[in-house]
Amino acid sequence: MTWTNPLRDPRDRRLPRIAGPCGMVLFGVTGDLSRKKIMPAIYDLANRGLLPPGFSLVGFARRDWADQDFAQIVHDSVKSYARTEFREEVWKQLAEGFRFVQGDFDDDEAFEQLRQTTEELDRTRGTEGNHAFYLAIPPGFFGTVAAQLKEHGLADPDGDSWRRVVVEKPFGHDLESAQALNASLAEVFPSGSIFRIDHYLGKETVQNILATRFSNMMFEPLWNNNYVDHVQITMAEDVGIGGRAGYYDGIGAARDVIQNHLLQLMSLVAMEEPTSFDADSLRIEKQKVLASVKLPRRLDLATARGQYAAGWAGGEKVAGFLEEDGIRATSRTETFAAITLHVETRRWAGVPFYLRTGKRLGRRVTEVAVVFKRAPHQPFSASSVEELTQNALVIRIQPDEGMTLRFGSKVPGTAMEIRDVNMDFAYGGSFTEDSPEAYERLILDVLLGDPPLFPRHEEVELSWKILDPILEAWERKGKPEQYGSGTWGPSSADKMLARDGRVWRRP
Ligand code: BG6
Repeated sequence: MTWTNPLRDPRDRRLPRIAGPCGMVLFGVTGDLSRKKIMPAIYDLANRGLLPPGFSLVGFARRDWADQDFAQIVHDSVKSYARTEFREEVWKQLAEGFRFVQGDFDDDEAFEQLRQTTEELDRTRGTEGNHAFYLAIPPGFFGTVAAQLKEHGLADPDGDSWRRVVVEKPFGHDLESAQALNASLAEVFPSGSIFRIDHYLGKETVQNILATRFSNMMFEPLWNNNYVDHVQITMAEDVGIGGRAGYYDGIGAARDVIQNHLLQLMSLVAMEEPTSFDADSLRIEKQKVLASVKLPRRLDLATARGQYAAGWAGGEKVAGFLEEDGIRATSRTETFAAITLHVETRRWAGVPFYLRTGKRLGRRVTEVAVVFKRAPHQPFSASSVEELTQNALVIRIQPDEGMTLRFGSKVPGTAMEIRDVNMDFAYGGSFTEDSPEAYERLILDVLLGDPPLFPRHEEVELSWKILDPILEAWERKGKPEQYGSGTWGPSSADKMLARDGRVWRRP
């Protein structure tokens, strides 16, 4: 059972949701994800008063560290990456709950030590047997760590307490490996205790897709193939692979981003209204979308992939992917991927969904553009509307969070000349508070045991079913096309849309 505050009324929005007594064990403390996202998010939650006073964080790693060395790592990461200001008193209280356990994943003694440490925390910090195990480690180790947790009595809660496991993508590299991974976790933890992170679902702007669609009257009547021409979902980054060669080579853009973030975004855009916002109702609707996806017959024409070549990014000369440290000169890993999907339902039949992602593109931007059909009849002369394109609703996920509605308007003057104009909603102009980081929301939800924002294994597996045939077709095709750093991807991506008589938006 989860702890609930008896004095709280869930309808009261003045009281923030605060996690009950608990702690977290972090595997993979030296990785980028821990340092840049997880540790800062934990501090930000503490700073916002959303963690219990006795919250404890146990680091588990191979390094020969004392508790203080671990605290120093967390300190440096918080100083560099936390969103909220550094406050000495918050830090001090948080740091009292830091512990470090040294060991390998197959080291029984270390897991014994880990058990003793959690028990000590239950006694001294009041964590009451509630512990989340965050596996910020390569997925190849999920099974081993889960089995060790079980073997050493760490996976099974006593009485009213809870044990949860948090895993990060990639959930496998194809359907088969994802199923094996899910099975190895399911042997140890019941499905309600497994939290799979897709950090896009923790973003405010992503949650707002459902709020916009289902709390308003004006969007949903147009949200179908009578009015929508196509949908473009873009996730572009200006950075290259940085120091992540070991992770990225052999994975590539489609597995890294489309399999999870972009298919989740597509599900939220395409799904039917859920009967409620609980985890099961949401999952059912998202799953229906993923299960209705049909791939185009000619995958060679309806997909595109590329690899960044040397070029310019942010005014600096940058190396191509094949020259990056740790990348094989013969690597065929794609750093850009674009695919065409069809959602075969009455609502969406005939409306292509174009998904694209890439590194070293023109700039960092993620957006969903719902592009509408042209008006069926124009009572204007051809020259009046030559500057008018298609109406569009653009959901700006990041970095400039908000929405833009594009439509035609008469240019002031004596002639009837119609041109595109934009109506804009910006978070910064409408709300006073900054949005929390996705990881703050998701870690808090794990500690609260709140599952709606975490993909279930069915969704993960359906996403692989969509991607597997594409990856196989690419595998057979040889090398990806090169594109210049700082451009918007390979020419095959433009040709892919041109064949359908469409163009990519320049975000
Ligand atoms: C991660 C990918 O899931 O998302 C990275 O593994 C990518 O390759 C990152 O850089 C981007 O996240 P965001 O939140 O900056 O869009």
